[in-house]
Amino acid sequence: APDPEVQPPLSGRTVVVTAGGTREPLDPVRYLGNRSSGKQGIALAETAAAAGAQVHLIAGIMDVQAPEHIANITVERIETAAQLQAAVQRVAPQADLLIMAAAVADFRPTAYAAQKIKKTEDGENPVITLERNPDILAETVQHRRAEGTGPRVIVGFAAETGSAEADPLELAQAKLLRKGCDLLVLNQVGEALVFGRDETEIHILTSPTLTAPTRSAPDGSAPTLSAADSAVTTRRGTK
Ligand code: CTP
Ligand code: CA
Repeated sequence: APDPEVQPPLSGRTVVVTAGGTREPLDPVRYLGNRSSGKQGIALAETAAAAGAQVHLIAGIMDVQAPEHIANITVERIETAAQLQAAVQRVAPQADLLIMAAAVADFRPTAYAAQKIKKTEDGENPVITLERNPDILAETVQHRRAEGTGPRVIVGFAAETGSAEADPLELAQAKLLRKGCDLLVLNQVGEALVFGRDETEIHILTSPTLTAPTRSAPDGSAPTLSAADSAVTTRRGTK
């Protein structure tokens, strides 16, 4: 029988996971979207719940079913980046760990057409103007820095193809510093797309912020996550 004295590693912790893609409506029948299966975020939510955490899953548009009926996981559905921002702002202050696996649309249409956009006979093509969405990850990090409250550990994600100037790891390293999060999970995308697969290989980049805890555990003990000696860890396995 399991020893009742032994607590699962994340028991008493609150974990917020964002997963899936956001959708920015153009008119009642059209949207701009981001590709994301949602599988990575769901796998992380289920793993955290199995480790004893109370998990709040903020679920965007996903190819797979959200885990609606698992003990310790509550699911909140969102569509737009603005809705994701509101949800994160509401729940992040109570979270010990924030995992930003969602693929957030960087831009949204400047205007929403209340009526369906129709083709016209004059041969003119419609022009869609875009504006920036808020950077939810970066603002959560900034808020923690300014207020001294918020998740002890904030995890960002990146999907990079690399470019002629920089390889994916260099881009991810720059993104980790720019966003200011504690960990960055890099998915390399390219010829063999990682989207939707059940297995993946990731790089986990750690920031020096992990070694300087901003907050101790509720019982006063030190945080259990420690920075790896090397900044990059590569993991291969099932999501
Ligand atoms: N993210 C976010 N809000 C945004 C865009 C991204 O919170 N408006 C988060 C994602 O959930 C992810 C991380 O930031 O955890 C990195 O997303 P990514 O799209 O790779 O970063 P960007 O800064 O948007 O860079 P890029 O120009 O490469 O898309
Ligand atoms: Ca982006």
